[in-house]
Amino acid sequence: MFLSRTSAAALKASAWSSAKTNAVRSITTASPSITQAFNASKNENGNYLVTLIPGDGIGPEISRSVKEIFAAAKTPIEWEEVDVTPIIKDGKTAIPDEALFSVRKSTVALKGPLATPIGKGHVSLNLTLRRTFNLYANVRPCRSINGYETPYENVDTVLIRENTEGEYSGIEHEVVDGVVQSIKLITREASERVARYAFSYAEAIGRDRVTAVHKANIMKLADGLFLQVCKEVSKDFPNIKFNDVLLDRACLHITSDPSIYSDTVMVMPNLYGDILSDMSAGLIGGLGLTPSGNIGRDASIFEAVHGTAPDIAGQDKANSTALLLSGIMMLKHMRLYKEAANIEKAVFDTLAEGKHLTGDLGGKATLTEYTNAVISRL
Ligand SMILES: NC(=O)c1ccc[n+]([C@@H]2O[C@H](COP(=O)([O-])OP(=O)(O)OC[C@H]3O[C@@H](n4cnc5c(N)ncnc54)[C@H](O)[C@@H]3O)[C@@H](O)[C@H]2O)c1
Repeated sequence: MFLSRTSAAALKASAWSSAKTNAVRSITTASPSITQAFNASKNENGNYLVTLIPGDGIGPEISRSVKEIFAAAKTPIEWEEVDVTPIIKDGKTAIPDEALFSVRKSTVALKGPLATPIGKGHVSLNLTLRRTFNLYANVRPCRSINGYETPYENVDTVLIRENTEGEYSGIEHEVVDGVVQSIKLITREASERVARYAFSYAEAIGRDRVTAVHKANIMKLADGLFLQVCKEVSKDFPNIKFNDVLLDRACLHITSDPSIYSDTVMVMPNLYGDILSDMSAGLIGGLGLTPSGNIGRDASIFEAVHGTAPDIAGQDKANSTALLLSGIMMLKHMRLYKEAANIEKAVFDTLAEGKHLTGDLGGKATLTEYTNAVISRL
């Protein structure tokens, strides 16, 4: 099971005082963990229940666009719309129970951007959702979009980032004044879980290679364990090739010729995934076109990675493509491949035609015009 912040902190003391090898041994336990596949059933109307979190700022308008397009494509989905405006529970910011129950029931959600309240005591809602539903793998595909010119035309990367530990374990302390330590926690269990998901995902999307990205040459124990586990998991997937690459080399490759990675699924620890996925997004024109999926043990949440765009909220100027592409990832996760392919083609054809682009892509179309253009191609 994923180590909570408290158990991770408890581990810290023993791991810290032990010899290096013992430290690693003490946090690695064999685990039967398996990737989470969607297994909900249709309701009496023949539809799957999906939680919709419209979010803040442009969230409601881009969510409406997705709902209209999905309805026009006759996707067998019933949305349960929930509000996640934070409430104060026991003196802390929390997500309303109604929203939590809905995601628990449906096990799949599409989420618009959420404004993170600024100020002490506020925990990011995104982080709360990630912790609540054990969202352990963040999947970020980046594909060049025909019709939107960038310096790169051949980007087709798929990155899977371990989402629960690594450099973001939150284990930091001050040794003496002016000397601080931040501990990178890597466990066999979390590494195996994300590696297994990466191989299953490669199979599901028809890629025949998984590439582990790491710095095991420097972090011999931490990244060494991550790499070792990936190698072990690869033996259970004989049809998928496995290789590994150092993080610095991967950055050089991606910015020189991203097509080097267009046949593989890259899997990596938390921090590397955070940086490399945004770097790939930059190559296709930024976060506004990038979908993402957070795969978890108890539920999976799909979301656009851009923010609430308060500067254009409520003006019918937003671009719903990133949320739409996240919705398409969600349909594939739900094995609704036919519907996903139909909507995906309509979106890419609309963008390639270039007549109904929103302002962020250099066009003049409103969100309503863009939505109708996609619908007309279904
Ligand atoms: N996943 C999330 O929920 C998430 C992610 C990032 C930021 N945020 C939150 O969003 C708020 C605003 O953040 P920010 O201004 O730094 O980033 P932002 O992504 O909201 O905006 C940056 C710029 O990109 C534009 N933009 C973003 N998405 C767009 C879209 N779909 N269509 C057209 N233009 C778009 C905006 O108009 C703005 O000019 C903050 O409260 C932040 O915490 C949430």
